[in-house]
Amino acid sequence: MSDHYEYPYPSTELESRYPFYPYEHQRLPEEIMKQRASLFFEEMNQRRSIRMFSSDTVPTRLIELAVRTASTAPSGAHKQPWTFIATQNSEIKRAIREAAEEEERKNYLENRMNADWQEAIAPLGTDYHKEFLEIAPWLVVLFEQRYEIASDGSHRKNYYVKESVGIAAGLFIASLHRMGLATLTHTPSPMKFLNQILERPVNERPFCLFPIGYPLDGIKVPDLQRKELDEILHVF
Ligand SMILES: Cc1cc2nc3c(=O)[nH]c(=O)nc-3n(C[C@H](O)[C@H](O)[C@H](O)COP(=O)(O)O)c2cc1C
Repeated sequence: MSDHYEYPYPSTELESRYPFYPYEHQRLPEEIMKQRASLFFEEMNQRRSIRMFSSDTVPTRLIELAVRTASTAPSGAHKQPWTFIATQNSEIKRAIREAAEEEERKNYLENRMNADWQEAIAPLGTDYHKEFLEIAPWLVVLFEQRYEIASDGSHRKNYYVKESVGIAAGLFIASLHRMGLATLTHTPSPMKFLNQILERPVNERPFCLFPIGYPLDGIKVPDLQRKELDEILHVF
């Protein structure tokens, strides 16, 4: 098929109303594309969630860069419906640990997690203890903005919030891994306590809690297998 378009984008009329700029793109030789893709895959395939962190400090600049990377994510109507709250304050981390453990105690010990769920997570060997929330040098909480609150107090809709924030979370995790840091995607549910501790407004809902740092020396991770390509990709 030729690449002639009958309906050019942007139309002159559209461009007279909204700014557009020429998109710069460098087309790479196929061999280089394969090399870059393989290297990125191999690197990402090394990523693991870790649950025991060293308390070694991590410069704020690195956290900022991961958040900037996350915020390059596409989002519904470009609403960028995310807020990242980053803390290395030990009192706040302790408060988060205590609240998370309280919720997780109910999940694990008071049957708030049904049998199927408990069976699914059994190989991870997790329990309600969340010491890492105090030990990891950084906790970053990603909030989704369910809607926007305008300066006059009125509400504006956000679109595809979960999809958008999920993509941002993926880029955040990839960025941390690429720079040599480790994290856990943690959801000590329900997570409403994070609004109270971090004083977030009602339009924000906690999406994920990321303890971030270096893995503790000598730790082990569960020996999980990732699905084979033919289980996850069907090409027609
Ligand atoms: C949305 C989401 C929520 C998760 N919540 C938890 C959690 O609360 N506690 C935990 O230990 N791991 C949690 N995980 C981590 C998963 O257990 C982990 O990603 C999975 O076992 C695969 O391991 P890997 O990340 O090392 O590849 C969560 C992961 C995702 C994507």
